[in-house]
Parts: sequence; C-alpha cells; structure tokens
Amino acid sequence: MSQTTRDELRQEVEKRRTFAIISHPDAGKTTLTEKLLLYGGAIHIAGSVKARKAARHATSDWMEIEKQRGISVTSSVMQFQYAGRQVNILDTPGHQDFSEDTYRTLTAADSAVMLIDVAKGVEAQTIKLFQVCSKREIPIFTFINKLDREGQNPFELLEEIERVLGIRSVPMNWPIGMGRELCGVYDRMKNQVELFQGNDHSTIEVRKVTDYRDPVIREMAGDYLADKLIEELELLDVAGDPFDYEKVKAGELTPVFFGSAVNNFGVQTFLENFLQLAPAPTPRKSTDGAIDPENEKFSGYIFKIQANMNPAHRDRLAFLRICSGKFQRGMSVKHVRAGKDIKLSQPQQFLAQDRDIVDVAYPGDIIGLFDPGIFRIGDSLSEGSSIVFDELPTFSPEIFAKVSIKNALKQKQYLKGLDQLTEEGMVQVFRSVGPFEDTYLGVVGQLQFEVFEYRMKNEYGVDILLNRTPFQFARWLVADKVDASKFRINSTLVKDKNDNDVALFENEYAMRTAMERMPDVKFLETAP
Ligand code: G4P
Repeated sequence: MSQTTRDELRQEVEKRRTFAIISHPDAGKTTLTEKLLLYGGAIHIAGSVKARKAARHATSDWMEIEKQRGISVTSSVMQFQYAGRQVNILDTPGHQDFSEDTYRTLTAADSAVMLIDVAKGVEAQTIKLFQVCSKREIPIFTFINKLDREGQNPFELLEEIERVLGIRSVPMNWPIGMGRELCGVYDRMKNQVELFQGNDHSTIEVRKVTDYRDPVIREMAGDYLADKLIEELELLDVAGDPFDYEKVKAGELTPVFFGSAVNNFGVQTFLENFLQLAPAPTPRKSTDGAIDPENEKFSGYIFKIQANMNPAHRDRLAFLRICSGKFQRGMSVKHVRAGKDIKLSQPQQFLAQDRDIVDVAYPGDIIGLFDPGIFRIGDSLSEGSSIVFDELPTFSPEIFAKVSIKNALKQKQYLKGLDQLTEEGMVQVFRSVGPFEDTYLGVVGQLQFEVFEYRMKNEYGVDILLNRTPFQFARWLVADKVDASKFRINSTLVKDKNDNDVALFENEYAMRTAMERMPDVKFLETAP
C-alpha cells in the first residue's frame, strides 16, 4: 500500500463517527434524528423522517408485514457529513418492532447517544439497550430531552442515571429554568449562555460570559433563574464529577446535555460537542488479535440480515460493518466461514432509508450486501487472511411461544425452515425434555414471532400455530446433572439447539427460588 493510500485511509477513519441512539419509545428519537439529519443537510424538510415513520414505504421491495404495520422491521443506517466528519447513525427500532436485531445493531456502533425524556427519566427499554452498550464499554453520551416541558429536577435525573444504570455523569450544560420558565442552557465547558428565544422558539442567542456568576446572565434570565443557576452550579462544582475524557472513552462517565429536540434547543451544540468527543472507529477483536481500522486489508462482519426485501425474488440484504481497510465495489474477499472467495458487486449504502449503490467505503461505514442466502449473522469477510471477528453476543429471550404446524404433511419443510431461521438468528429454539416433544421459540420482541410466521409461510410454505406461554426468563444451566423434576412449578426444563439444559421461568420469584434450592447449579443468562 502506498503512503498516499495509507494517508487517505487514516484520514477517512479519523473522520468517521458511527453511533446509535438508544431510548425508550416516545422519548424523541425520531425527532432528534431528524434534526441531526437536517444539520447534516441529509434531508431538507423537517418532518420527512417522521412522515416515513408514520407511513413507511409504499414501494414493493419491503416486506409485506412492514407495509401492513407501517413500521420498519429492521434497522437501517443514515449517513451525513457535518464539520468535516462523516456521520453514520444506526437506527435501533423500538416499540413493537423491537427485536434481537436491535441489540445486534449496537455491536456495530462505536458510541451511543442515550436519549432520556426529562419527565420520565430512565425507562425500561433504555435500561436494556444501555446494558448492551455498557458491556461493550463504548462511550455513552446522554441527551435529556423535552426541557420545554415540566420535568424532574436535573439533580434527581443524574442520581437516577447513576442508581439505575450504574454510570457516573458529567453535565456539559445546565438548564436555566424548565418547562414554561425555560430560558436556555449554560454551557459549562465553554462558559457561555445559550438562550432559547422567539415566540416560535427558533432563535438561539449565544453569549460568552466569564462564568455562571456573570451579571449578564441576571440581565438575560432575571433574578430568580440566575440565583437558582448559581446555587445549582456551585453544588455541581463541589459535588459533581469532573470531566474526565479517559473515563468517557471507557464508558465509565457519560457527558450529559440538556435540550429540546422538537424546538431545536441545544441540538446543534450537542452535535458539535458529540462529534468532537465521540471516538472514531477503534480496533475490533478477532482471532488474529485486535484489528486496527487502519490495517490496509479490508475486513468486516455481518451483524444483521434483512430477509425477503423483495418477495418476488426472495433476496436478502446483509448489513456489514467495515472494520478495516478500504472497500471497493467489485472487490474479492474471503467469506471466512464458507472458505470461499466472493465478489462484492452490488453493495448498497443507506441514507434515511433510500438505498444507493456504493463504490467505496471505509471503516465505521455500514454497507448492505446482496445476499443470495450465503451469509449468516456474525460472518466475517476479509481480504487476504482469514480473520474471524469475535462472536456476536446472544441475548436472553423474554417472550416464549409453543410452535406447531397446522398440516402434519409439511413436517419436512417445517423442520428445514425452523433450522434455517434459527441458524440465521431470527428466533431461538428450545425443545422440551418430557415425553411430549414440545418446541418453544424464544425472542426478545413480539415482532420476531410475526416475522417468523410470515417467513415460514412465504419461504417454506408452512402454516404454523404459535401459542404464547407465560414464561418470561430463560437461564442456561451449568451443572454435572440437572434434575428435571425440580422444574415443574412455574417453570420447565428444555434443551437449546446445542443440547444445553435451559430452564424457563414464569416469574422472577420462581427463578430465585430455583437458584436458592440448587446452589450447585450455575444459572446463566445466555448460552455458555
Ligand atoms: P420516538 O421516535 O422516540 O418514539 O419519539 P418521537 O420523536 O416520535 O417523539 C415522540 C413525541 O415527543 C412526539 O410527539 C414528538 O413531537 C415529541 N417530542 C420530541 N421532542 C420533544 C421536545 O423536545 N419537547 C416536546 N414537548 N415534545 C417533544 P407526538 O405528539 O407523539 O407526535 P407529533 O404529533 O408531535 O409528531
């Protein structure tokens, strides 16, 4: 590789910021995403992302089910440029379209933005997504949204973040008033006041000040809010965590920004600070040790497969995160698991859901590869050597259903479909150990059942019956011997596809009791 090519690769890597927004439904993720895309010039009309959310895709190449429900079944990627950075936002679906894909997408991010509703605080889905990011030790930035509404006291929110999520926080700015009194924010790093003004809240005035005691703030915000700000920031200076970039990078400290996405308050400052602090693509672990993004050989892994985009052709799109080297259309790479060389000829890139053919791409970018059925989630592709990236994490299912077929003559196709779709990571499958062989499917989101049912019918021609069961927890058991008779009340013992013993529990009480009764058994959240 020539020096020029090496320099180009380094520059491109340094430019890239790939992140996901994690939040509970309704916190304002769509709104914030849209504002970020507007700043990046990726869209030009406010409302276009929202409109897509409301009435997604009349085009024929999305799954039927997606059209019926007006939602995006799987995550996509939005790309834009801002202040010399190339930004990739990974969309993580929430609501009913929550699925294991949502979790897997997070493995492709280098950092995360945690969006919290000022009135609601840390909510259930945020906790789950946070935990996945936290395990990967990626930096997490917090945006506390809806400041234009009456919310919780900011100190209480910070305390809640620490108590519930176990991460320390450092406010980068601080609200001057809230709800109807909202006047602006004080930027603690730049010592400036950002005033949110105008009847339509569109004007934002920025004033440099010496510090938060500057009389200018009193002139701008009035005595009451100025006194309150001084009192709160004095407290924060004494009792709060100082900004420590090393801790931010290690995911131990989250920088917190306050704002209001819908009114555009604090969004630009957030974006600018975030792009400065968020990391460029970092090395990824593999069988060959950590692979540096500036490594000249192209490599990447597949974290998601979107099936049946075009029902007529049954084609699929495999989402690949580039980990090193430069991608060029038409290049030949090794499909490591299959031990074959393949040509990447029709790669696609994403922008607010529109797909474009891509000619070149760099580490941190996500490309979509046409998949005639050769890829599996977790597959590594590399140029030259046979790098295998660390396995994608698996996740503990929380919703379970018994599955059976309507027509016994379709048994063969049913087993084939079950096998292939579990292999693909669509659902997890378990079999009972009793005299009657029951088959259970386990998922993290209800949508996975619907997609499974749809694909069984459309791809394998099999009508299935799904009966929800009351189980809510799965625990993989590690012990010399497991006694099935101990799992009868509010629980059952099953085997996973690799014949591991797994106990399913209806509630936490049943699970805790079992753990107490069997101190010699290890109960793991995911397969050992
Ligand atoms: P989501 O993707 O996280 O589910 O949230 P989304 O952006 O769709 O926002 C959920 C609701 O919260 C929307 O209202 C949106 O307008 C509102 N919202 C977002 N940011 C702010 C904010 O800073 N302040 C206030 N007050 N509201 C905010 P909606 O009534 O559900 O939809 P719409 O009719 O306003 O579009």
